[in-house]
Amino acid sequence: MALPQSHLVGVAAEFPEGTIVGRTVAGTDVILIRRQGQLQCYLDQCSHQPVKLSEFGEVSGGRLVCHAHGGTFDLDEKGRVICDPPMDALTPVICSEMAGQVFVSI
Ligand code: FES
Repeated sequence: MALPQSHLVGVAAEFPEGTIVGRTVAGTDVILIRRQGQLQCYLDQCSHQPVKLSEFGEVSGGRLVCHAHGGTFDLDEKGRVICDPPMDALTPVICSEMAGQVFVSI
């Protein structure tokens, strides 16, 4: 199994507070969300059904709501489910910022 590699996905200004930004990194769709200044990254798929959170998701406060069925995830607790129908947390992906550039490790 190959080790994850870091990929440049943009500059910090492309990821404003409270918005969901989708990117495709090495063939994998991910979303990045800036919450209280810090970036979080997850696979771009709801854990309930194969629905893209970059299309059906909305950030409200510290929560990400999937409007396909109302599933809600806590962004302050690594995407933990706080309202079903999803049973599982979001799938986290490693991201980082360095010198104003944003990287995702896949
Ligand atoms: S697909 Fe997201 S809540 Fe059902």
